[in-house]
Amino acid sequence: MNKQLLIDTARMLVAGAKGLLAMDESNPTCNKRFASLGIPQTEEMRRAYRELIVTTPDLGQCINGMILYDETIRQQTKDGIDFVKVISDAGIIPGIKVDTGAKELAGFPGELVTEGLDGLVTRVREYARLGARFAKWRAVIAIGAGIPTRGCIGANAHALARYAAICQAEGLVPIVEPEVLMTGTHDLQRCFDATDQVLHAVFEHLHAQRVMLEGMILKPNMVLPGSTCPQQADVDEVADATVRCLLRTVPAAVPGVAFLSGGQSAELASARLNAMNLRFKGRLPWAVAFSFARAIQQPALEIWRGHEAQVQSAQHALLHRAQCNRAARLGTYDVAMESCMPASSTVGTEMLPSESAPATLSEHATYAESLRQNEYTR
Ligand code: 13P
Repeated sequence: MNKQLLIDTARMLVAGAKGLLAMDESNPTCNKRFASLGIPQTEEMRRAYRELIVTTPDLGQCINGMILYDETIRQQTKDGIDFVKVISDAGIIPGIKVDTGAKELAGFPGELVTEGLDGLVTRVREYARLGARFAKWRAVIAIGAGIPTRGCIGANAHALARYAAICQAEGLVPIVEPEVLMTGTHDLQRCFDATDQVLHAVFEHLHAQRVMLEGMILKPNMVLPGSTCPQQADVDEVADATVRCLLRTVPAAVPGVAFLSGGQSAELASARLNAMNLRFKGRLPWAVAFSFARAIQQPALEIWRGHEAQVQSAQHALLHRAQCNRAARLGTYDVAMESCMPASSTVGTEMLPSESAPATLSEHATYAESLRQNEYTR
Protein backbone atom coordinates (compact mmCIF):
# COMPACT_ATOMS: atom_id res chain seq x y z
CA MET A 1 0.00 0.00 0.00
CA ASN A 2 1.36 3.43 -0.94
CA LYS A 3 0.29 5.26 2.20
CA GLN A 4 1.66 8.65 1.17
CA LEU A 5 -0.22 8.55 -2.15
CA LEU A 6 -3.47 7.78 -0.32
CA ILE A 7 -2.89 10.54 2.22
CA ASP A 8 -2.03 13.07 -0.50
CA THR A 9 -5.06 12.15 -2.63
CA ALA A 10 -7.44 12.27 0.35
CA ARG A 11 -6.15 15.71 1.30
CA MET A 12 -6.43 16.93 -2.28
CA LEU A 13 -10.07 15.85 -2.42
CA VAL A 14 -11.03 18.27 0.35
CA ALA A 15 -8.41 20.99 -0.24
CA GLY A 16 -8.96 24.66 -0.92
CA ALA A 17 -12.62 25.23 -0.03
CA LYS A 18 -13.72 22.89 -2.81
CA GLY A 19 -15.69 19.67 -2.73
CA LEU A 20 -16.81 16.68 -4.76
CA LEU A 21 -19.46 16.39 -7.42
CA ALA A 22 -21.25 13.05 -7.36
CA MET A 23 -22.41 12.07 -10.85
CA ASP A 24 -22.43 8.36 -10.18
CA GLU A 25 -26.13 7.62 -10.44
CA SER A 26 -26.66 4.07 -11.62
CA ASN A 27 -28.46 3.70 -14.96
CA PRO A 28 -31.82 2.90 -13.29
CA THR A 29 -31.56 5.99 -11.06
CA CYS A 30 -30.41 8.24 -13.89
CA ASN A 31 -33.24 6.91 -16.05
CA LYS A 32 -35.76 7.56 -13.29
CA ARG A 33 -34.62 11.17 -13.01
CA PHE A 34 -34.72 11.53 -16.79
CA ALA A 35 -38.20 9.99 -16.96
CA SER A 36 -39.56 12.47 -14.43
CA LEU A 37 -38.50 15.30 -16.76
CA GLY A 38 -39.53 13.65 -20.01
CA ILE A 39 -35.94 13.00 -21.13
CA PRO A 40 -35.44 9.83 -23.23
CA GLN A 41 -33.76 7.13 -21.15
CA THR A 42 -31.05 6.07 -23.56
CA GLU A 43 -27.32 5.53 -23.25
CA GLU A 44 -26.74 8.46 -25.62
CA MET A 45 -28.83 10.84 -23.50
CA ARG A 46 -27.01 9.75 -20.36
CA ARG A 47 -23.72 10.31 -22.20
CA ALA A 48 -24.81 13.74 -23.42
CA TYR A 49 -25.89 14.77 -19.93
CA ARG A 50 -22.62 13.64 -18.40
CA GLU A 51 -20.74 15.48 -21.17
CA LEU A 52 -22.63 18.62 -20.20
CA ILE A 53 -21.40 18.18 -16.63
CA VAL A 54 -17.75 17.36 -17.31
CA THR A 55 -17.33 20.13 -19.88
CA THR A 56 -18.81 22.88 -17.68
CA PRO A 57 -16.24 25.71 -17.81
CA ASP A 58 -14.47 26.67 -14.57
CA LEU A 59 -15.89 23.80 -12.54
CA GLY A 60 -12.35 23.08 -11.33
CA GLN A 61 -12.49 26.30 -9.30
CA CYS A 62 -15.04 24.69 -7.00
CA ILE A 63 -14.72 20.93 -7.49
CA ASN A 64 -11.75 18.72 -6.55
CA GLY A 65 -13.21 15.36 -7.54
CA MET A 66 -15.98 13.87 -9.65
CA ILE A 67 -17.52 10.50 -8.87
CA LEU A 68 -18.36 8.55 -12.02
CA TYR A 69 -20.39 5.41 -12.71
CA ASP A 70 -19.24 2.28 -14.53
CA GLU A 71 -20.91 3.37 -17.79
CA THR A 72 -19.66 6.95 -17.50
CA ILE A 73 -15.98 6.23 -16.79
CA ARG A 74 -15.83 4.45 -20.18
CA GLN A 75 -17.53 7.26 -22.16
CA GLN A 76 -16.22 10.05 -24.35
CA THR A 77 -17.36 13.48 -25.47
CA LYS A 78 -18.98 13.70 -28.89
CA ASP A 79 -15.52 14.73 -30.14
CA GLY A 80 -14.12 11.44 -28.89
CA ILE A 81 -12.22 12.64 -25.81
CA ASP A 82 -12.41 10.36 -22.77
CA PHE A 83 -14.40 11.88 -19.92
CA VAL A 84 -11.56 10.92 -17.58
CA LYS A 85 -9.17 13.06 -19.66
CA VAL A 86 -11.59 16.01 -19.79
CA ILE A 87 -11.98 15.84 -16.00
CA SER A 88 -8.25 15.50 -15.33
CA ASP A 89 -7.43 18.34 -17.74
CA ALA A 90 -9.81 20.54 -15.73
CA GLY A 91 -7.72 19.84 -12.63
CA ILE A 92 -10.35 17.53 -11.16
CA ILE A 93 -9.65 14.05 -9.78
CA PRO A 94 -11.74 11.24 -11.30
CA GLY A 95 -13.39 8.76 -8.95
CA ILE A 96 -15.80 5.86 -9.30
CA LYS A 97 -18.76 4.29 -7.53
CA VAL A 98 -17.90 0.65 -6.85
CA ASP A 99 -20.83 -0.76 -4.90
CA THR A 100 -23.52 -2.60 -6.84
CA GLY A 101 -26.48 -1.23 -4.92
CA ALA A 102 -28.50 -1.77 -1.76
CA LYS A 103 -30.50 -5.02 -1.61
CA GLU A 104 -32.97 -6.42 0.92
CA LEU A 105 -31.18 -7.71 4.01
CA ALA A 106 -32.34 -11.26 4.70
CA GLY A 107 -34.03 -11.59 8.07
CA PHE A 108 -34.43 -7.84 8.53
CA PRO A 109 -37.68 -6.66 6.90
CA GLY A 110 -37.48 -3.09 5.67
CA GLU A 111 -33.68 -2.93 5.87
CA LEU A 112 -31.01 -3.04 3.18
CA VAL A 113 -27.43 -4.08 2.79
CA THR A 114 -25.14 -2.80 0.06
CA GLU A 115 -23.56 -5.43 -2.15
CA GLY A 116 -20.50 -5.47 -4.40
CA LEU A 117 -17.65 -7.12 -2.51
CA ASP A 118 -17.50 -10.15 -4.82
CA GLY A 119 -14.94 -9.45 -7.53
CA LEU A 120 -14.23 -6.00 -6.12
CA VAL A 121 -10.43 -6.33 -6.30
CA THR A 122 -10.61 -7.02 -10.04
CA ARG A 123 -13.04 -4.17 -10.67
CA VAL A 124 -11.03 -1.70 -8.60
CA ARG A 125 -7.88 -2.62 -10.54
CA GLU A 126 -9.67 -1.99 -13.82
CA TYR A 127 -11.03 1.37 -12.61
CA ALA A 128 -7.54 2.37 -11.49
CA ARG A 129 -6.27 1.52 -14.99
CA LEU A 130 -9.05 3.68 -16.44
CA GLY A 131 -7.83 6.62 -14.33
CA ALA A 132 -9.88 6.56 -11.10
CA ARG A 133 -7.98 7.65 -8.00
CA PHE A 134 -10.74 7.28 -5.47
CA ALA A 135 -13.84 5.12 -5.06
CA LYS A 136 -17.21 5.40 -3.34
CA TRP A 137 -19.48 2.88 -1.61
CA ARG A 138 -22.88 3.90 -0.26
CA ALA A 139 -24.63 2.08 2.58
CA VAL A 140 -28.28 2.92 3.24
CA ILE A 141 -29.80 2.98 6.71
CA ALA A 142 -33.51 3.68 7.13
CA ILE A 143 -35.20 5.01 10.26
CA GLY A 144 -38.61 3.58 11.14
CA ALA A 145 -40.46 1.48 13.70
CA GLY A 146 -37.79 -0.71 15.30
CA ILE A 147 -35.15 0.18 12.73
CA PRO A 148 -32.28 0.60 12.20
CA THR A 149 -31.32 -2.69 13.88
CA ARG A 150 -27.88 -3.67 15.09
CA GLY A 151 -27.87 -6.42 12.49
CA CYS A 152 -28.36 -3.98 9.62
CA ILE A 153 -25.87 -1.46 10.92
CA GLY A 154 -23.27 -4.16 11.53
CA ALA A 155 -23.68 -5.75 8.10
CA ASN A 156 -23.35 -2.42 6.31
CA ALA A 157 -20.46 -1.21 8.45
CA HIS A 158 -18.59 -4.46 7.81
CA ALA A 159 -19.08 -4.18 4.05
CA LEU A 160 -17.97 -0.54 4.09
CA ALA A 161 -14.81 -1.47 5.95
CA ARG A 162 -13.99 -4.40 3.64
CA TYR A 163 -14.49 -2.19 0.58
CA ALA A 164 -12.35 0.58 2.09
CA ALA A 165 -9.52 -1.82 2.86
CA ILE A 166 -9.59 -3.22 -0.69
CA CYS A 167 -9.53 0.26 -2.22
CA GLN A 168 -6.55 1.32 -0.13
CA ALA A 169 -4.67 -1.87 -0.96
CA GLU A 170 -5.16 -1.00 -4.65
CA GLY A 171 -4.16 2.66 -4.25
CA LEU A 172 -7.62 4.25 -4.36
CA VAL A 173 -8.92 6.53 -1.61
CA PRO A 174 -12.22 5.19 -0.23
CA ILE A 175 -15.13 7.59 0.16
CA VAL A 176 -17.02 5.83 2.94
CA GLU A 177 -20.72 6.73 2.66
CA PRO A 178 -23.08 5.50 5.37
CA GLU A 179 -26.33 7.33 4.59
CA VAL A 180 -29.02 7.54 7.24
CA LEU A 181 -32.03 8.38 5.09
CA MET A 182 -34.14 11.46 5.75
CA THR A 183 -37.34 9.68 4.67
CA GLY A 184 -39.79 9.46 7.58
CA THR A 185 -41.56 11.32 10.36
CA HIS A 186 -38.75 10.97 12.93
CA ASP A 187 -37.39 14.03 14.68
CA LEU A 188 -33.90 15.55 14.75
CA GLN A 189 -32.88 13.66 17.90
CA ARG A 190 -33.83 10.31 16.35
CA CYS A 191 -31.62 11.03 13.36
CA PHE A 192 -28.86 12.14 15.71
CA ASP A 193 -29.06 8.86 17.64
CA ALA A 194 -29.16 6.70 14.50
CA THR A 195 -26.27 8.59 12.88
CA ASP A 196 -24.26 8.36 16.11
CA GLN A 197 -24.84 4.61 16.28
CA VAL A 198 -24.01 4.09 12.60
CA LEU A 199 -20.81 6.14 12.66
CA HIS A 200 -19.57 4.43 15.82
CA ALA A 201 -20.08 1.06 14.13
CA VAL A 202 -18.48 2.20 10.87
CA PHE A 203 -15.30 3.41 12.56
CA GLU A 204 -15.13 0.29 14.72
CA HIS A 205 -15.22 -1.86 11.58
CA LEU A 206 -12.79 0.40 9.70
CA HIS A 207 -10.36 -0.03 12.58
CA ALA A 208 -10.87 -3.80 12.65
CA GLN A 209 -10.16 -4.01 8.90
CA ARG A 210 -7.00 -1.86 9.32
CA VAL A 211 -8.20 0.97 7.14
CA MET A 212 -5.83 3.93 7.29
CA LEU A 213 -8.03 6.79 8.45
CA GLU A 214 -5.64 9.43 7.06
CA GLY A 215 -6.23 8.04 3.57
CA MET A 216 -10.03 8.08 3.42
CA ILE A 217 -12.93 10.55 3.30
CA LEU A 218 -16.19 10.14 5.21
CA LYS A 219 -19.38 10.95 3.29
CA PRO A 220 -22.16 11.11 5.87
CA ASN A 221 -25.69 12.47 5.97
CA MET A 222 -26.38 15.70 7.81
CA VAL A 223 -28.38 15.22 11.00
CA LEU A 224 -31.89 16.24 9.97
CA PRO A 225 -35.48 15.70 11.07
CA GLY A 226 -37.32 13.26 8.78
CA SER A 227 -38.66 14.88 5.62
CA THR A 228 -42.25 14.45 6.88
CA CYS A 229 -41.58 15.30 10.52
CA PRO A 230 -44.01 18.05 11.54
CA GLN A 231 -41.26 19.78 13.51
CA GLN A 232 -38.54 20.89 11.11
CA ALA A 233 -35.27 22.34 12.42
CA ASP A 234 -33.71 25.63 11.46
CA VAL A 235 -30.38 25.88 9.69
CA ASP A 236 -28.32 26.48 12.85
CA GLU A 237 -29.98 23.61 14.72
CA VAL A 238 -29.09 21.24 11.90
CA ALA A 239 -25.52 22.54 11.78
CA ASP A 240 -25.07 22.20 15.54
CA ALA A 241 -26.60 18.72 15.76
CA THR A 242 -24.55 17.49 12.82
CA VAL A 243 -21.25 18.80 14.10
CA ARG A 244 -21.96 17.54 17.64
CA CYS A 245 -22.68 14.08 16.26
CA LEU A 246 -19.53 14.02 14.11
CA LEU A 247 -17.32 15.27 16.94
CA ARG A 248 -18.45 12.28 19.02
CA THR A 249 -17.83 9.73 16.31
CA VAL A 250 -15.31 10.74 13.62
CA PRO A 251 -11.62 10.46 14.57
CA ALA A 252 -9.45 13.52 14.00
CA ALA A 253 -7.15 11.50 11.72
CA VAL A 254 -9.79 11.57 8.97
CA PRO A 255 -8.83 14.47 6.68
CA GLY A 256 -12.31 15.37 5.52
CA VAL A 257 -16.03 14.96 5.87
CA ALA A 258 -17.89 15.51 2.58
CA PHE A 259 -21.65 15.46 3.02
CA LEU A 260 -24.21 13.88 0.72
CA SER A 261 -27.30 16.01 0.12
CA GLY A 262 -29.82 13.19 0.53
CA GLY A 263 -32.80 14.92 -1.06
CA GLN A 264 -32.51 18.32 0.65
CA SER A 265 -33.14 21.28 -1.58
CA ALA A 266 -29.99 22.67 -3.15
CA GLU A 267 -30.33 25.94 -1.22
CA LEU A 268 -30.81 24.29 2.17
CA ALA A 269 -27.86 21.97 1.62
CA SER A 270 -25.66 25.01 0.94
CA ALA A 271 -27.08 26.99 3.88
CA ARG A 272 -26.57 24.12 6.33
CA LEU A 273 -23.03 23.42 5.14
CA ASN A 274 -22.31 27.12 5.43
CA ALA A 275 -23.62 27.26 9.00
CA MET A 276 -21.32 24.41 10.03
CA ASN A 277 -18.28 26.13 8.60
CA LEU A 278 -19.26 29.54 9.96
CA ARG A 279 -20.23 28.48 13.47
CA PHE A 280 -17.32 26.09 14.03
CA LYS A 281 -14.61 27.88 12.06
CA GLY A 282 -11.14 26.77 13.14
CA ARG A 283 -12.52 24.40 15.78
CA LEU A 284 -12.96 21.20 13.76
CA PRO A 285 -10.27 18.57 13.20
CA TRP A 286 -11.41 17.68 9.66
CA ALA A 287 -12.38 19.70 6.59
CA VAL A 288 -16.17 20.04 6.30
CA ALA A 289 -16.95 19.77 2.60
CA PHE A 290 -19.61 18.55 0.17
CA SER A 291 -20.07 15.59 -2.12
CA PHE A 292 -23.50 16.42 -3.47
CA ALA A 293 -25.29 14.88 -6.43
CA ARG A 294 -28.84 16.26 -6.51
CA ALA A 295 -28.01 19.45 -4.61
CA ILE A 296 -25.54 20.37 -7.36
CA GLN A 297 -27.09 18.76 -10.42
CA GLN A 298 -30.84 19.08 -10.06
CA PRO A 299 -31.35 22.70 -11.22
CA ALA A 300 -29.09 22.03 -14.24
CA LEU A 301 -30.93 18.84 -15.14
CA GLU A 302 -34.27 20.63 -14.99
CA ILE A 303 -32.98 23.31 -17.35
CA TRP A 304 -31.35 20.91 -19.80
CA ARG A 305 -34.20 18.40 -20.18
CA GLY A 306 -32.38 16.81 -23.06
CA HIS A 307 -32.28 19.95 -25.23
CA GLU A 308 -28.95 20.76 -26.90
CA ALA A 309 -29.91 24.44 -26.94
CA GLN A 310 -30.11 24.43 -23.15
CA VAL A 311 -26.61 23.11 -22.50
CA GLN A 312 -25.02 26.47 -21.76
CA SER A 313 -27.79 27.60 -19.40
CA ALA A 314 -27.65 24.28 -17.61
CA GLN A 315 -23.88 24.59 -17.24
CA HIS A 316 -24.36 28.07 -15.72
CA ALA A 317 -26.76 26.60 -13.18
CA LEU A 318 -24.36 23.75 -12.39
CA LEU A 319 -21.46 26.13 -11.89
CA HIS A 320 -23.65 28.41 -9.79
CA ARG A 321 -24.46 25.58 -7.37
CA ALA A 322 -20.80 24.59 -7.21
CA GLN A 323 -19.91 28.21 -6.42
CA CYS A 324 -22.57 28.41 -3.70
CA ASN A 325 -21.12 25.31 -2.09
CA ARG A 326 -17.60 26.64 -2.34
CA ALA A 327 -18.83 29.74 -0.50
CA ALA A 328 -20.51 27.43 2.05
CA ARG A 329 -17.17 25.82 2.76
CA LEU A 330 -15.76 29.25 3.52
CA GLY A 331 -18.78 30.25 5.62
CA THR A 332 -19.52 33.09 3.18
CA TYR A 333 -22.64 31.66 1.49
CA ASP A 334 -25.64 33.96 1.60
CA VAL A 335 -29.08 33.22 0.22
CA ALA A 336 -28.71 36.46 -1.76
CA MET A 337 -26.23 34.52 -3.94
CA GLU A 338 -29.22 32.64 -5.31
CA SER A 339 -30.52 35.71 -7.08
CA CYS A 340 -27.16 36.07 -8.90
CA MET A 341 -27.96 33.05 -11.05
CA PRO A 342 -28.15 34.01 -14.73
CA ALA A 343 -31.77 34.66 -15.73
CA SER A 344 -31.58 32.05 -18.47
CA SER A 345 -30.95 29.36 -15.93
CA THR A 346 -33.45 30.29 -13.22
CA VAL A 347 -36.45 30.12 -15.49
CA GLY A 348 -37.38 27.52 -18.04
CA THR A 349 -37.46 28.87 -21.58
CA GLU A 350 -40.32 28.82 -24.01
CA MET A 351 -38.89 25.57 -25.39
CA LEU A 352 -39.76 23.81 -22.17
CA PRO A 353 -43.14 22.47 -21.10
CA SER A 354 -43.93 25.34 -18.74
CA GLU A 355 -46.59 23.50 -16.77
CA SER A 356 -44.03 21.07 -15.38
CA ALA A 357 -40.89 23.22 -15.31
CA PRO A 358 -40.18 24.77 -11.90
CA ALA A 359 -39.89 28.52 -12.46
CA THR A 360 -38.38 29.69 -9.19
CA LEU A 361 -35.80 28.42 -6.77
CA SER A 362 -38.41 27.56 -4.15
CA GLU A 363 -40.30 25.60 -6.77
CA HIS A 364 -37.04 23.82 -7.56
CA ALA A 365 -36.92 22.83 -3.90
CA THR A 366 -40.49 21.53 -3.93
CA TYR A 367 -39.82 19.73 -7.17
CA ALA A 368 -36.68 18.13 -5.75
CA GLU A 369 -38.77 16.98 -2.79
CA SER A 370 -41.16 15.26 -5.17
CA LEU A 371 -38.26 13.38 -6.77
CA ARG A 372 -37.20 11.96 -3.44
CA GLN A 373 -39.27 8.78 -3.61
CA ASN A 374 -37.63 5.36 -3.40
CA GLU A 375 -34.04 6.53 -3.72
CA TYR A 376 -32.72 3.34 -2.18
CA THR A 377 -30.69 1.91 -5.03
CA ARG A 378 -28.76 4.84 -6.38
P1 13P B 1 -27.17 13.14 -3.13
O1 13P B 1 -26.31 14.33 -2.84
O2 13P B 1 -28.17 13.36 -4.21
O3 13P B 1 -27.75 12.56 -1.87
O4 13P B 1 -26.24 12.01 -3.70
C1 13P B 1 -25.01 11.78 -3.12
C2 13P B 1 -24.56 10.45 -3.51
O5 13P B 1 -23.47 10.28 -3.96
C3 13P B 1 -25.47 9.32 -3.31
O6 13P B 1 -24.79 8.14 -3.32
